[in-house]
Amino acid sequence: IRTIGVLTSGGDAPGMNAAIRAVVRTALACGIKVRGIRRGYHGLLKEEIIDLSARDVSDTIQRGGTILQTARCASMRTEEGQQKAAAICKKYGIDGLVVIGGDGSFAGAKALAHLGVNTIGLPGTIDLDIACTEYTIGFDTAVNTAMEAIDKVRDTSTSHERCSIIEVMGRDAGYLALWCGIANGAEKILMPEEHDYDEEALIKDIKECQRRGKKNYIIINAEGVGDSMNMAKRIEAATGMETRATILGHMQRGGSPTCKDRVYASVMGAKAVELLVQGKTNRVVGYMHGEYKDFDINEALSMKKTVPDYQYDIAKTLAL
Ligand code: F6P
Repeated sequence: IRTIGVLTSGGDAPGMNAAIRAVVRTALACGIKVRGIRRGYHGLLKEEIIDLSARDVSDTIQRGGTILQTARCASMRTEEGQQKAAAICKKYGIDGLVVIGGDGSFAGAKALAHLGVNTIGLPGTIDLDIACTEYTIGFDTAVNTAMEAIDKVRDTSTSHERCSIIEVMGRDAGYLALWCGIANGAEKILMPEEHDYDEEALIKDIKECQRRGKKNYIIINAEGVGDSMNMAKRIEAATGMETRATILGHMQRGGSPTCKDRVYASVMGAKAVELLVQGKTNRVVGYMHGEYKDFDINEALSMKKTVPDYQYDIAKTLAL
């Protein structure tokens, strides 16, 4: 490997800069040139390619977002787009590529690997929805950001003796909701994976909690379960308890990464370069059972991830 390219793709996640920095500096330490690709695959197709030196990544490890910018790129799902991307990599001498993103980004990496560009994927998403890893870059920061925001909503909710619905991100995955549900002591966690959303039962539970003397009722609603604003109106009408909805939104994706995100992202970035140096391709780095591992991208994409029922049941018990 003589030149490694690095890009971030899909939704940004805190810690991506730590991963980029680690890729750059590990590669340079091995005598490999590094090119940064701006705006994900979109930028690759537009040849937005820059050289990266050790100094270019100075003062970045503590910053949220991604210094390379990111994008979601529909063309990279087409064969034409993939061929063009591989040809551009060849034109710029990029014989190894590190793709930091989620499953969608790995599908692009897999296509490039088949077209002769050695590729390694790093799991970068606040959603924690990548099956081959127990850790994804950005989740730890996002879940802490959400937890702190929910604590604040809880203060006012208690003062006003209200029901508060707080909607967290996660697309089709309930990890942010589940972790916040436990960390914030929510009365109810609504997750896309639990197909038993039953508003009547929820209303009954709110009334029962009022009877038991609870001062407020916190519902963590994972994005995708239902419309929090309308849900709030229906709950207020049915229970007589004032209800407000708060959608945390993109603030969950920003902010300075936690120590865990900086450290894990750094190790993963370094590992990606090591794998390329060893001649590996079409791999995804993951963290499983206390170890950093790498998986074949096809295998990683076919793996299924389920939210732990055990943890969900505990959350229910603790909401007593
Ligand atoms: O994948 C990260 C994520 O923040 C999801 O939780 C959310 O559904 C989605 O991205 C939002 O995407 P966008 O920023 O493009 O609206």
